[in-house]
Amino acid sequence: MEKRENFGGRLSVILAMAGSAIGLGNIWRFPYVAGEQGGGAFIIVYILASFILALPIFFSETIIGRRSGSNAVGAMKKMAPGTRWKWIGIMTVISPMIVLSYYSVVGGWSVEYLFKALAFDFTGVPSDSISGFFSRFISSTWEPVLAHTIFIALTAGIILGGVKKGIEKFSKLTMPILFLLIVVIAVYSICLPGARGGVDYLLKPDFSKISAGTIASAMGQAFFSLSLGVGTILTYGSYIRKQENLMVSGVGTAVADISFAILAGFAIMPAVFAAGIQPGAGPGLVFETLPFIFNKMGARIPWISAVVAIIFFLTILVAALTSAISMFEVGVAYLMEEKGKSRKKATLQVGLFCWVIGLLCSLSFGPLSGVHIFGKSIFDFLDSLCSNWLMPLGGLMFTLFVGWKMSRSDVEDEFTNHRKLNRRGFPLVYFLIRYIAPVGIVIVFLSNLLL
Ligand code: ALA
Repeated sequence: MEKRENFGGRLSVILAMAGSAIGLGNIWRFPYVAGEQGGGAFIIVYILASFILALPIFFSETIIGRRSGSNAVGAMKKMAPGTRWKWIGIMTVISPMIVLSYYSVVGGWSVEYLFKALAFDFTGVPSDSISGFFSRFISSTWEPVLAHTIFIALTAGIILGGVKKGIEKFSKLTMPILFLLIVVIAVYSICLPGARGGVDYLLKPDFSKISAGTIASAMGQAFFSLSLGVGTILTYGSYIRKQENLMVSGVGTAVADISFAILAGFAIMPAVFAAGIQPGAGPGLVFETLPFIFNKMGARIPWISAVVAIIFFLTILVAALTSAISMFEVGVAYLMEEKGKSRKKATLQVGLFCWVIGLLCSLSFGPLSGVHIFGKSIFDFLDSLCSNWLMPLGGLMFTLFVGWKMSRSDVEDEFTNHRKLNRRGFPLVYFLIRYIAPVGIVIVFLSNLLL
């Protein structure tokens, strides 16, 4: 079997984890949800949810990962031998591969849009030629499948490099650039005439919009954004060296993730308002509204908006890639350690699985649009299955495992590096893991069922 690798140091851990966290969830989901659900008031609830509910799950995953030094299934087999916990491990190996399948379809869209931006297709053309492009593109058969294939191939290429030369190197290179790019776009966006409305939309706290539903969606956002409950943080956690500080890695990742989401909000919403467009949700916001805005800006100074469009879609692509590799690695680590496969073979198998499921998801916008599962398209069904059910379930199980299955002394031992660090913070972290986080996740479940 190939030798197990580790991440280099503290910065490498935070950048790789932040890479996993920062992705499409920050760019297309956060700005819209924040604006809709009370602006600044939602942001406050979201930050609280990230620290009080999501971070304890993050800690649970890193504790299990580093303690076991194994993939998700191996961890359960080692730490709870001969029990049904193994099935939780299996579930959290399968779910990230399903998420990756549809995630890479959207990642593929960013590949296509980057090519279009590079070809100056959004600027200097009549705006009519842009309207309808998105729906024509996603409902066509081959183009989005080709883009999805390129995205999976890029992800597999990084994974083939291994933990140090692939994941760590890519995250260390791209994460600082990603922050720089999003700051550049945010500054540009805020300086546009008429941008004020977008800033208000994001920041003006409207506490009247805060309800049980807001709290549940803040938790859902924090959950998806920190890549929790799907074994990615557990697997990355297993590559953290014994001397690293788990508290610092977790808090650093959460701070990076929250900051990026807020910056993405400032990059997008002011431009949307400056263009006098109603902010839309989800893919429409990024792939329909923004090309329009680039086109509109391009009518005045074409080259600036062309450059901004290139930077913007490059940012989305890189952010999606750093998240995609973390989901890909879960399956690869499992196949290598449990099935004795080489990294190359494991990468090929995971890639093929995700490509096939992603193919169905991609076609579900076009030729397979008539196929419905529980009334939803294949893409929407898998998204809702994972985001609303499998991710929270995985998160719940990880907190129960650390809070109730492992002994307190083992948990303390791991979190405090044999009682050398974080001794004062540990009781609070343990309380959050044992009681608060599981209750929070149950609330998310109930709200998914009832709201
Ligand atoms: N955490 C990743 C994202 O936000 C999945 O896109």
